[in-house]
Order: sequence, then structure tokens, then C-alpha cells
Amino acid sequence: MALNVDPIRVADARGRALRDLRISVTDRCNFRCVYCMPKEVFGKDFQFRERSELLSFEEIERLASIAVSLGVSKLRLTGGEPLLRRGIEDLISRLAALRTPEGKPVDLAMTTNGSALAIKAAALKEAGLNRVTVSLDSLDNERFQAINDVKFPVDKVLAAIEAAAQAGLGPVKINTVLKRGVNDDEILDLAEHFRGTGHILRFIEYMDVGASNQWKLDEVVPSAEVIKRISARHRLEPAAPTQLGETAKRWNYADGSGEIGVISSVTGAFCGDCTRARVSAEGRLYTCLFASEGTDLRALLRSDADDRDIALALGGLWNKRDDNYSELRAALEPGDRKRIEMSYIGG
Ligand code: GTP
Ligand code: 5AD
Ligand code: SF4
Ligand code: SF4
Repeated sequence: MALNVDPIRVADARGRALRDLRISVTDRCNFRCVYCMPKEVFGKDFQFRERSELLSFEEIERLASIAVSLGVSKLRLTGGEPLLRRGIEDLISRLAALRTPEGKPVDLAMTTNGSALAIKAAALKEAGLNRVTVSLDSLDNERFQAINDVKFPVDKVLAAIEAAAQAGLGPVKINTVLKRGVNDDEILDLAEHFRGTGHILRFIEYMDVGASNQWKLDEVVPSAEVIKRISARHRLEPAAPTQLGETAKRWNYADGSGEIGVISSVTGAFCGDCTRARVSAEGRLYTCLFASEGTDLRALLRSDADDRDIALALGGLWNKRDDNYSELRAALEPGDRKRIEMSYIGG
């Protein structure tokens, strides 16, 4: 679509371009990870969004297409758990057909807990998904089940990772959120498990996102410690970033057995070149993972606004953006801002 809106103008107040759109397709998840959707908050009575409140696939496609016309080249489907959204393959094929103003396809990825991935991997690939990222916090079944809190077995997620790679959705990225005293004793086991497989393991510093997880700074395992512990066993070499604004610092095993990454949102904020916008399942736009408020785009999509009106609205929101929460974190008091849950806004 040629909208005649100059993509160069779509820079925010700190000069950052809009490059990535992370689309939450559902606020529901079949896991109850203790740090993300604890059962005390997300229990039987929790009111998830009704189907009619969610953006339809047509609406998501339209919004994504407009975002692509403004410079977005990377789309990530998240949730909740995106594979719970019925007919997700249909949405994937619509998004895979989008082209940037230069005529290139977009990079189309998904973050999933892996529970339904083994059966769906081939269909997702067929629909046009390029790659998946699977969340996995432990290799120990008992511990994994305690973390997901629904007794989901780790073997099934490990099998799903293999199935995804087999289906051509690799290199599969594995996201491990480290929490002190919970899984920091598994750093080496995890590294060892995925070394030489072609999958890319990434250790994530536990963040103070949302209001349900009672985050404390002393639960964060700094990335420097992760690198130190793995380096004691295997020589690691820092790798150059592949893209501006990457979340992960990449490291290669010196012996050629692969790559790992660390995501240091707490000890090494990467807001400086953050090009990510997020859309919730009901169509609210958030310009930061830690934004207190989103802007309703659903109403606009359901009005008689044309694509150009929506492009101007989206571009205007981005122009005003000056978020840099992770850089400010240390100076803020706990509880001083309303936080959106990660399961709602997407990881
Ligand atoms: P790739 O293109 O596959 O590298 O995607 P990505 O680096 O965006 O990775 P992914 O979506 O898997 O994000 C990994 C983790 O990084 C998330 O689960 C979050 O914990 C964290 N993260 C992602 N984006 C942001 C962000 O904009 N801000 C902060 N503070 N953390 C983020
Ligand atoms: N800190 C860091 N990462 C988190 N995730 C969920 N909650 C947090 C948090 N508090 C991660 C999940 C998954 C992605 C969706 O977000 O582990 O990889
Ligand atoms: Fe766990 Fe991801 Fe579901 Fe949150 S959205 S409960 S981290 S599987
Ligand atoms: Fe981007 Fe906000 Fe994350 Fe900083 S805290 S990297 S501005 S999403």
C-alpha cells in the first residue's frame, strides 16, 4: 500500500524509528506462570476479554499493513498464548502477504509457550510464519511444572522446539527468564542442553513488568553473572549486533557450537534505540512495555476513518513517544506508576 506518508518522519521524540510491531492476539493463556499470571490474580473468576472485544483478523491485518507502510518491518505475534487464538494460521497468511514500501516481505515471528506448537508447527510454517521463540524456564520437570502451575510437562515443550526446527521455523529461540533462587542453578545445564543444537538460548533478566508478580530487585540475576558462569566452562566471544535496537546481546561459543544471548533490561537498559510498539488484543497501542496507558485504535478501525487517517493517527502517536522506562527504573519509587500486565500487552 502506498500511503504517501514519509516513513522517515515517523520517528519519535527521541529520534527512534518505528520498526517492530508486537501484536497480542489474545489475553488468555493455558499456563499460570507464577511470575506472569499467578493463580491468585488470574483465577476462575478472572474476566478475560470477550471475543467481540478482540481485534478481528481483518482489523489486525489492516493495522499491520498501515504500520508496515510507516516503516515497520518486523511483526511478532504474542499473547497471552497466541496459539490459543482459533484460526491463527489465517492471520499468519494475511500478515505474510504484506510487503514493505521497498517490496520486501516482513519478518514474521511468534512468541509461544510451546504447549500446542508440536502439532501446529508445520501448519504455521505453511501459512508463512518465519520463526518462533519458545519460553522455557527450566529443564527439570518438577520445577517446570511448578513454574507453569498447571503441571504442563517439560518434555512436551522440548519436543515442540524440535518439531518447530524440523518444520523450518528455526533457528528457534528459547527465552529463559532467570529468577534468583528459582532457576539460577540451571544456567549451565540449560546452556549445555542447547549448545550445538542450532537453537539460540537467551537468558532474560526478570523485570518489574505488570502488577501481579511482586518483583524485587534482588530476584534479578544480572546478565554479567550469566556470562561469567558460562565462560567458566566454555569460551565465549561477543558477537556484533545484527540489527539496531536488539534486545539481546549475542555471544558465540568460540568452538563454533552456537550462539547464546542475554537480555539485560534491568542492568543494561536498551531504550536508546527501542523501535518497538505493542498492540493489545483489543487494539490498544502501547509505545512502551511499561506504559501506563494505551490508545484505543479499535474505535478508529471500526469508524469510517480511511487508511490514511489511521496512518496519520499512528504516526502521530509515535511522533509524541518519549518512553525510556528501563533507563529510569532505578530512579523511580516502587508503585509509582500503573503497570500493564505482560500477558495482556505481550512480552
Ligand atoms: P528477536 O527479533 O527474535 O530477537 O526478538 P526480540 O529480541 O524482540 O525477542 P523477544 O520478543 O523474544 O523478547 C525477549 C524478551 O525481551 C521479552 O520476553 C521481554 O522480556 C524482553 N523484551 C522484549 N522487548 C522489550 C522491550 O521493548 N523492553 C524491555 N524492557 N524488554 C523487552
Ligand atoms: N520479566 C521478564 N520476562 C518476562 N516474561 C514474562 N514475564 C516476564 C518478566 N517479569 C517473558 C516470558 C516469555 C515472554 C512472553 O515474556 O518468559 O518469554
Ligand atoms: Fe507463562 Fe507466557 Fe502464559 Fe505468561 S503468557 S503465563 S509467561 S506462558
Ligand atoms: Fe522500549 Fe520501553 Fe522497553 Fe525501554 S522499557 S526498551 S522504551 S519498551
